[in-house]
Amino acid sequence: MAALRVPGDKSISHRALMLAALGKGRSRVRGLLQSADVHSTARVLRALGVPIPALDADELVIDGVGLRGLAQPSVDLYCGNSGTTARLMSGIVAGSPLWATFTGDQSLSRRPMRRVAAPLTAMGANVALPEHGGLPMTIRGAKLKGLTWHSEVASAQVKSAILLAGLVADVPVEIHEPAATRDHTERMLRARGVDVRTEDLVVSLLPSARLDAGDVDVPGDPSSAAFVAGLAALGGTRGAVRVENVGVNPGRTGAFRTLVRMGAALKYEDVAEQGGEPVASIVCSAGALRGISISPEDVPSLIDELPLLACVAARAEGETRVTGAAELRVKESDRIKAIVDNLRAVGADAEELGDGFVVRGSDRPLRGRIVTHGDHRIAMAFGVLGALAGNAIDVDDPSCVAVSWPSFWDALAGLARA
Ligand code: S3P
Repeated sequence: MAALRVPGDKSISHRALMLAALGKGRSRVRGLLQSADVHSTARVLRALGVPIPALDADELVIDGVGLRGLAQPSVDLYCGNSGTTARLMSGIVAGSPLWATFTGDQSLSRRPMRRVAAPLTAMGANVALPEHGGLPMTIRGAKLKGLTWHSEVASAQVKSAILLAGLVADVPVEIHEPAATRDHTERMLRARGVDVRTEDLVVSLLPSARLDAGDVDVPGDPSSAAFVAGLAALGGTRGAVRVENVGVNPGRTGAFRTLVRMGAALKYEDVAEQGGEPVASIVCSAGALRGISISPEDVPSLIDELPLLACVAARAEGETRVTGAAELRVKESDRIKAIVDNLRAVGADAEELGDGFVVRGSDRPLRGRIVTHGDHRIAMAFGVLGALAGNAIDVDDPSCVAVSWPSFWDALAGLARA
């Protein structure tokens, strides 16, 4: 059986750098994802005076500057393509006695920032946004006050921005989420001695005045592993594939559960705990796939995997319907439109809904050129579809995978049967 590892988890890698930066003392990070998005977080932290070393070491050693140790930056905080960098760092800057302007590439500059600007303003920070609500965003940190916030969007980035603002400003915060989102920030803060509580959909943080240093072993990214599982489920590999040491936090693994519902043979082996996060090897092989409904409550746990699941659905029997996923419109691209336009461009049957999409599967050859809009997950999802026997799919900008899995195309070529 083919066995491989995928690069480190992107969400955890961002947080590992940020929390090491704010911690008191020395933290070590192993298995960090080395990708353009994580470089963006490192660059922003360096601009704020944190001694982040080059990211290419097996083990990164970071001497934290403490919760009140960030320095006034002399340059804009360029976040590249990374929403997690911009949104989580906005909370950290808002609670610090400095000001900064966040900038990003074309895609990030269009993405909604009011969702973080509004709660941070309610805490007392001064946040200036352009009319369209994206970047550049200038934040003048202040002495913040505590906050209870009812978030309209199910977003771990918004939740994390508020938690980090409360942490840095040493004030209590409470976030009410419309649906549960990934809880890496909560787990990692607890592991560093911060009092963070979760009750149903309410997350609260009590002031702690300090953050302990802490070591992290970053597990493999389930969002990357999903592409491998999807390829295996579609029969695109030479038999079963085993992806080792993957993070299987339930808030992230909706795509694996969905592949099983669609008929794939997928199981976890060697389940263990690593630094407060569950990890496992994922073994996946082909099954007779059928279309299913993915409902709004499933969406947060598979939001980043919907492009892949849409491509899997194009090869499943019957119809797959996704609703309650309007958030896809404000990701690295309008993913509802990108999924549907590209599926149609290669000859598949797909339809847009306001908050989701419908795909009707077939086994006809899929051929054509897709437009990624610079979106890594669109590129990789169609890469998987294109790797199946009989299909021929040309991707306009293969290099955009660099934000989350720079060696994706090599890994795909190594696994694909065709
Ligand atoms: C992320 C949260 C999600 C996800 C993104 C990473 C995070 O975004 O789509 O890829 O690391 O917190 P939202 O918080 O906007 O849902």
